[in-house]
Amino acid sequence: MSEGLVRVVRAAAIAAAAAAVALVAAMLLGGAAAEEVVPGLGDAGTATRWGLPVSRVVMDIAAALTVGALLAATFLLPLEVAGGRGRLSADAVAYLRAASWLAALWSAAAAAVMVFTVSDVLGEPVDLVLTGNRLSTYVGDLPQGTALVLVVLLSVVVALLARTTATPGGAFGLLALALVALLPPPLTGHAASAGNHSVAVTALAVHVLAVALWVGGLAMLGRHALSGGGRLETMADRYSRMALWCYIAVGISGLASVAARLPDPMQLVTGDYGRLALGKIIAFGVLGWFGWWHRERTLPALADRRPGAFARLATVEVAVMAAVMGLAVALSRTAPPPPPADQDAAEVLLGFPVPPEITLGRVATLWKLDFFFAAAAAVLGVLYAAGVIRLRRRGDRWPVLRTVSWGIGLLTMLLVTQSGLARYSPVLFSMHMVQHMTLSMLTPIFLVLGDPITLALRALKPAPGRGDRGPREWLLVLLHSRYVAVISHPVVAAAIFVVTTFALYFTPLFENAMRDHTGHIAMEIHFLAAGALFFWVLIGSGPQPRRIPHVAKLLVLLATMPFHAFFGIALMNLGRPIAEGWYRSVHPDWAGSILSDQHAGGAIAWGFGEIPTFIVLLALVGQWFLDDQRTARRQDRRADRAAARREEDELAAYNAHLASLAERDRAAGARTVRKPAGRPDEAPETAEGG
Ligand code: HEM
Repeated sequence: MSEGLVRVVRAAAIAAAAAAVALVAAMLLGGAAAEEVVPGLGDAGTATRWGLPVSRVVMDIAAALTVGALLAATFLLPLEVAGGRGRLSADAVAYLRAASWLAALWSAAAAAVMVFTVSDVLGEPVDLVLTGNRLSTYVGDLPQGTALVLVVLLSVVVALLARTTATPGGAFGLLALALVALLPPPLTGHAASAGNHSVAVTALAVHVLAVALWVGGLAMLGRHALSGGGRLETMADRYSRMALWCYIAVGISGLASVAARLPDPMQLVTGDYGRLALGKIIAFGVLGWFGWWHRERTLPALADRRPGAFARLATVEVAVMAAVMGLAVALSRTAPPPPPADQDAAEVLLGFPVPPEITLGRVATLWKLDFFFAAAAAVLGVLYAAGVIRLRRRGDRWPVLRTVSWGIGLLTMLLVTQSGLARYSPVLFSMHMVQHMTLSMLTPIFLVLGDPITLALRALKPAPGRGDRGPREWLLVLLHSRYVAVISHPVVAAAIFVVTTFALYFTPLFENAMRDHTGHIAMEIHFLAAGALFFWVLIGSGPQPRRIPHVAKLLVLLATMPFHAFFGIALMNLGRPIAEGWYRSVHPDWAGSILSDQHAGGAIAWGFGEIPTFIVLLALVGQWFLDDQRTARRQDRRADRAAARREEDELAAYNAHLASLAERDRAAGARTVRKPAGRPDEAPETAEGG
């Protein structure tokens, strides 16, 4: 075994021991190890009591390492250039192959978690579960079972494809797939039944994604340093830029997860769940110190080609991270304080009490945090501002109107997802329609007019190596991809915009999306994305896969908008409520009949279409006018250049003519000077004198 490999194995053993010790200690201290068996209910036994959390820790760590290996292959290691094109280096391919083994471990651990969870839920020993048909029944019936099956399937796909993939695009696809495979458990676990489930679910999903990138990336960097791999400095530089963002995301999402379960901060010290969460917060602070020390000391040392200090600190840091992951699993096995017993059925479904009778004042004041959209707006706002600041510092101009438009877009998004509208939209279809129309028809127009793609392409620095890919190059790859070419065809974009609206509301899809928090977020993201795509095709000014004449854009707009009016009219004529089951459970007594509210929703959908049509028409006509002016200016410049060239040619011809005259005169002068040779009494003539 090489010395580098010995060091890597030793570091992995230290991390595994740290995770195990933290898990056992937290299970004992938090009480999850000594759960009381309720008389009359079965006991799953000691194997399940310990097997479940242990396999869960292995699953979480293997998932993070798989993501880390794919991250190293795709983003941390630079590409090599061959024949003018970027390709994966030998090191990157080795990380892909490592990801294959790690993903296999991930899927095996997820399968074990599935078996132990069935045993835990049914209160039956694991051997009984494995011999009966319990497993197949549970997997089909419970969301957690389906989620774990999805994890097993997706991680097996990653394991198989990572064995053969050898292109940067393929590696990128596998990383995206691995990130998707992290999501099913947090989206269906007990966060989904927490008091404030809308915050709990989204925050936990963000938490798990950020943890995987942060922990997995550092583990691979540590491995690279310990085994003496090349390009360590570049990798560390790329990782440290990403790690800061992950650290912020882990902290915010972790705190939001705690707040969703413990409404009173005092519960952080009064109960087992709170104390374990406090332990994580302290560990998080310690990890922040590690990051700061890296920036101050070990990264500069790396730049001086002294990787020892970096490798040692990274080993300890990864061990602390593994311990925190053990603690996290113990936390998820510990019961948070139960919600108040006086909740009615509607409150349990909504995650908050049914709001009082609607007034404008209440819509303006009864704010409610939607973690997903609040975080999305913060990230989009900060990234845009960073881009504008970078251009300004470079001395480049960026139109203020575009920045204002981006700001208005984010503001409208925040208003409909965080204000009182967000409280009334799940109980009143009419308010849901205001939210839908704003997210799909107003917000995207302003976001598109902010022209974020052009800003990103101008602000992002090109990758340092020729053929290498940084964020700017990946954005260009995406823009030039066949996928974007297909969906940005005006007919396809318009069809997605219109057809999906009808398909959502006139099938059971809408009721399912209202009942499930993840489905609800997916629906809102779809509104926003479908609108953004449609308006990007019509009024986007950055680089696009195809040039569409302005007249054609106008026709697409005028042909599409009436379908929204038809949709509104169809709703106004409903004879039976949409998503009746959902609205019967949550519709407030003060709100009249469900059907009349849905008719009002139809009128809103019908009337709302006029506003975006008007704004887009203005933008289109404005762009058309500016384009015409630009073309006219270009033609004028071309004509001016041609005239100047003609003048220059004429001047050159005239000068040539003068020169030829002067030449002729010189020749004539020379003849005159030669002539008097036989007549010495005459004075000689000079050329100048002539
Ligand atoms: C401010 C610091 C943090 C807070 C407040 C926090 C809080 C939480 C909460 C409340 C959960 C949900 C537990 C449940 O299901 O009941 C969770 C899950 C998790 N946390 Fe953290 N966390 C923090 C930092 C970290 C760090 C630094 C790591 C790893 C390095 C981490 C890794 C995880 C993992 C892997 C899970 C999912 C566990 C599972 O269900 O399998 N957390 N965290």
